[in-house]
Amino acid sequence: GGKVMAGEKYKDIVNVAHRGASGHAPEHTIISYKMGEKMHGDYIEMDLQMTKDGQLIVMHDEKVDRTTDGTGLVRDYTLQQIKQLDAGSWFNEKYPQHADPDYAGLQVPTLEEVFQTFGKNKNYYIETKSPEVYPGMEKELLRLINKYNINKETLLVQSFSAQSLHIMHELDPAIKLVQLLSYKSNAVITNEEMAAIKEYAMGVGPNYTYLNQEYVQKVIQSGLEIHPYTVNDKETMQRLIDWGVTGMFTNFPDLLAEVKKGK
Ligand code: G3P
Ligand code: CA
Repeated sequence: GGKVMAGEKYKDIVNVAHRGASGHAPEHTIISYKMGEKMHGDYIEMDLQMTKDGQLIVMHDEKVDRTTDGTGLVRDYTLQQIKQLDAGSWFNEKYPQHADPDYAGLQVPTLEEVFQTFGKNKNYYIETKSPEVYPGMEKELLRLINKYNINKETLLVQSFSAQSLHIMHELDPAIKLVQLLSYKSNAVITNEEMAAIKEYAMGVGPNYTYLNQEYVQKVIQSGLEIHPYTVNDKETMQRLIDWGVTGMFTNFPDLLAEVKKGK
């Protein structure tokens, strides 16, 4: 019946745990990533920043202020200094309903630590953030991907910067890429834009806010994947799936797992 058909259609929807299960635990911590795994996230989403001494760490902002007890730019911190920061207590204060004493004092992980913790066959969805601020970021990312022998079949690298993706593509054409897009009003994409993106990327990641069914269908028919961000309620998840998206980013992979099961 209809339910079974729905199940078939939904099971391939890629569930991307955005900054880990960041609705439940402090974003970009090992706990948050583990929770994403447990809540049926298919991918761990990571944002990269680079320290003063050239180490890649996982953090969304260029500044440490929002997600740690420190202040200032990541690029002005050595890794050793970053490691002194508390990356969990802010979450307990901001989200008392999700607070857990275990979150206090969590450290900012390096990309290497994430690879060491989850291994070469985990699905990683890695964003080069502010690549113009960190020349050489792509090369260092690729060095670590190769050092840890990360499975490139299930690895995705994403960026808002087409230039950063071009650099990745030049360095290693085997790395699968997703072009992030940000719309401030009704989303429109031309055939020329899609053709240009297809030269290097396998998909696009637009903000879901201004999407419409026509946009989604156009992208799908071009052969590109489409993973909108960041979708945190079941009603919107359902609507996007009905429009034909192939996956999405969410802070609540548990909710998307339920929608995929028709719950
Ligand atoms: O990477 C998808 C989505 O996370 C892009 O926006 O600002 O959350 O990195 P942002
Ligand atoms: Ca991101």
